[in-house]
Amino acid sequence: MNYALIMCGGSGSRFWPKSRKAYPKQFLNPLGPDTMLQSTFSRIRNLIPIENIYVVTNKNYVDIIREQLPELGEDNLIVEPMQKETATCIGHSAVRLMKKDSEAVMVVLPSDHHIENENAFITTLQQGMLIAENSKHLITIGVKPTRPETAYGYIQIGKKIDEEWPIDTYKVRRFTEKPNKEKAAEFIEDGRYLWNSGMFIWKASSLLKQYKKHLPEIYESLKAIRDGLGTDNEFSILEEEYEKIEGISIDYGIMEKSKDVYVIECNFGWDDIGNWTAMERYMERDEWGNQTKGIFFQMDSRDCIVCGEKRLIAAIGVNDLIIVDTDDVLLICRRERDQDIKELLSKLGENV
Ligand code: GDD
Ligand code: MG
Repeated sequence: MNYALIMCGGSGSRFWPKSRKAYPKQFLNPLGPDTMLQSTFSRIRNLIPIENIYVVTNKNYVDIIREQLPELGEDNLIVEPMQKETATCIGHSAVRLMKKDSEAVMVVLPSDHHIENENAFITTLQQGMLIAENSKHLITIGVKPTRPETAYGYIQIGKKIDEEWPIDTYKVRRFTEKPNKEKAAEFIEDGRYLWNSGMFIWKASSLLKQYKKHLPEIYESLKAIRDGLGTDNEFSILEEEYEKIEGISIDYGIMEKSKDVYVIECNFGWDDIGNWTAMERYMERDEWGNQTKGIFFQMDSRDCIVCGEKRLIAAIGVNDLIIVDTDDVLLICRRERDQDIKELLSKLGENV
């Protein structure tokens, strides 16, 4: 059977200070009215029956998810004791699904995406599910790149498979997660690369075989977690194993290493609303090139992204800044350094 797994336990740090550890970006609605999690959930409901849609998250976000997704089944929330990145949350969810259904095909979805054409989205996933059901391949959805973005994974495409498929599907030659600016520019220039959208489709069993090969330590923990499922010690075993795991993303842990990856090129209009400069694609520019939310007053200031809440924000003679004002934090950052917000947070410490 087919299942969806919505990953919803990241801390959304590059969208700080709107996105906070206690209330990260997937629970916000920058392009509103629905939050990004709610949009993800309602999109996939058009393909997967609601009882087969799972959400995996950190224990700290359970209440927010229950509030935002009242339709989510009692047993469809997979709770992690701590944040150990996407390879851990996906592996953990895969063993749970396998216990229920050894043939489970998983559609793995992040909860921070904007998708324009929902029908094309569904058709692409249907093709992916068909390939995954009938093979051991790992399938990813690729997007034609438009700029040397360093926040994404890059997929070098190889041979096209099956001319009969309605949507182009290729063998992946190489997967490079978050390259530096120079490498990203090389990939764009080369023209044979797609961005990794971060959406994946595979049989849970095929995926776990890849863990055995490429992430053997996590695989051992996953076996222990599996054996604990349904016992009185289920959560304490989960905590013990999560403690041991060295967190790694699925992109570095599996996608860069596996030889059995295929990519479907999507054309449904995709974006990851992952950082402040992503907002420039959605906020209107005034005649000075400023993009603002809240009350902003300026003299001789150009090309700023300004996001305020209650206070008036005033600027004189500044250009290319990101200014975000919240109740307790004011961020001022040069536009081209928005990727460094993550580093700032790691220096600031845990609880900001
Ligand atoms: N449950 C859980 N646990 N979810 C997590 C965790 C975790 O420890 N860490 C991250 N997530 C969730 C996030 O909430 C998000 O919805 C999704 O997993 C992806 O994590 P991001 O942190 O947003 O990843 P990224 O954007 O830096 O990179 C990924 O997506 C890009 C495209 O959006 C990669 O797959 C890139 O290769 C890809 O280009
Ligand atoms: Mg993301």
